[in-house]
Amino acid sequence: MFNDDINQSLRDNLATESLGRALLVEEVLESTNLTASEMAGMGMPHGLVVVADRQTGGRGRNGRAWLSPAGVNLYFSMLLRPSCPPGIVPQIAILTALAERRALGQLLPSLEIQVKWPNDVLVKGGKLSGILCSMSCQGTRTDYAIVGVGINVNALAADFAPDVRSKATSLWLLTGRCFPRGKVLALFLNQFEPLYRKWLKAASLSPFLAEWRKASVLEGKQVTVEQGNAPVTGVVDGITADGQLILRDGQRTSLATAGDAHVVG
Ligand code: BTN
Repeated sequence: MFNDDINQSLRDNLATESLGRALLVEEVLESTNLTASEMAGMGMPHGLVVVADRQTGGRGRNGRAWLSPAGVNLYFSMLLRPSCPPGIVPQIAILTALAERRALGQLLPSLEIQVKWPNDVLVKGGKLSGILCSMSCQGTRTDYAIVGVGINVNALAADFAPDVRSKATSLWLLTGRCFPRGKVLALFLNQFEPLYRKWLKAASLSPFLAEWRKASVLEGKQVTVEQGNAPVTGVVDGITADGQLILRDGQRTSLATAGDAHVVG
């Protein structure tokens, strides 16, 4: 049933060359990221997309869980095999957020869709989507990257865990309308593929910095980033071409590489 829906919507809307052309759709998986990694290890090609209606062990950033009830949201992972040095692979998370913003903007042109470093997508301050990436490399060669995406499509407030309910949103909560999940997936893949190609060619985020700055909810805000034991604070002034957050504090400039960013004051 879920399988038929996704397949039909992809047939109707997918315009990619390779992304999503190999597809695994399951009613239940522990985690699409886990399955995609296993399939990568078995030699599956670039472009495979794994989708589940429900995840029993959905994974979020920093060891958090991603609650994944059936029938409402999108949970999927892409298997990518980028021919690039492993050091730049984490930049793909930034690209993913931008591709989502473009795709959701096509669906809902009147909504202001924002991105939050390192890789959240927000509308009206609520988290609409999260991204979790992992990778495998052999020496200086990237073997594969797994890009896992959860998009809150038709979730009601009760579908979210109580601790995230006030911070999360969904397309349904924003518009009062139900959206076909396969269509949302196809629109995303259509946007991601050309961005990814452009990024591989540039081997950096430089072609996307202006778009990120324009869409960033943190831009110009006083922010603290918790990175291990050394939090960094400052006013956000864009990101670097390798995806670090730029924080200015008087004459001092700090760069945050990873961590959760909080607006202060
Ligand atoms: C975050 O914490 O913001 C990242 C959430 C990523 C969730 C997605 S759902 C599909 C894929 N499979 C997982 O187990 N996690 C990602």
